[in-house]
Amino acid sequence: MDNPRIFLPVARRAALEAGRYLLQGLNQKKRVAFKGQVDLVTSFDRKSEEMIYSRLGQAFPDHSFLAEEEIHQERASDYLWLVDPLDGTTNYAHGLPVFCVSIALAFRNEIILGLVYDPSREELYTATRGQGAYLNGKPIRVSKTRKLGRSLLATGFPYDVRTSQDNNLDHFASFAVRAQAIRRLGSAALDLCYVACGRFDGYWEKKLKPWDLAAGALLVEEAGGRVSNLEGEKFNLSSPHIVASNGYIHRSMLDILSPGLVK
Ligand code: IPD
Ligand code: CA
Ligand code: CA
Repeated sequence: MDNPRIFLPVARRAALEAGRYLLQGLNQKKRVAFKGQVDLVTSFDRKSEEMIYSRLGQAFPDHSFLAEEEIHQERASDYLWLVDPLDGTTNYAHGLPVFCVSIALAFRNEIILGLVYDPSREELYTATRGQGAYLNGKPIRVSKTRKLGRSLLATGFPYDVRTSQDNNLDHFASFAVRAQAIRRLGSAALDLCYVACGRFDGYWEKKLKPWDLAAGALLVEEAGGRVSNLEGEKFNLSSPHIVASNGYIHRSMLDILSPGLVK
């Protein structure tokens, strides 16, 4: 495997370019289509995806590529790019500046590079496996909060929240009376970045996709945090459920999400 750092410059250029394009469109009138009852997509999601693919595809024509909206190129390669061209589409469609671009690279299904760009704050989060996590080039670490009762948490609700019983409202209620407070920002990738840099102490969410989680999960790990599924097993790309924390409060979070678990 090549040193993952060699892929950073092209990925960074792709993320900055797409992020800046999204930011200039934030207050423009958008055509919104519905993928589900509350699951939106705009022409900006698609254009951002095309921009990222054109950069990465040109630089790494042999690699596989999986993006949220349309582009799925499966090639005989150990490398797979996972791209969410606009994480936080509901916010974006409402003109709320909480959204980002998320790009990850996996080698044989292990995430080796993660990059999240928030153009509204000009914050670029980067991580490569074994080499730390950075915000605009400066090293970041998870928080040191040791108690759930002192913790600021984040979560989200799945797009089938209206129709499924398994919609996270029960867990939300349990955490609401145990944590210091909970936020629902509307961007899973940013939630994870905020755990990585210590703004949040923990985050959990269910029913997500690999492009939502891949980059952010590596950022949390490289910032010294812990990332698992709801059973406490190490997070991997096939897990749609995630718990990410500073490590100290992980067990307390699992106790609520999977009561009776001995770990
Ligand atoms: C969504 C956001 C949101 C999470 C959703 C995701 P999208 O991604 O990350 O925070 O709660 O379930 O699907 O649709 O904006 O790319
Ligand atoms: Ca997403
Ligand atoms: Ca998206």
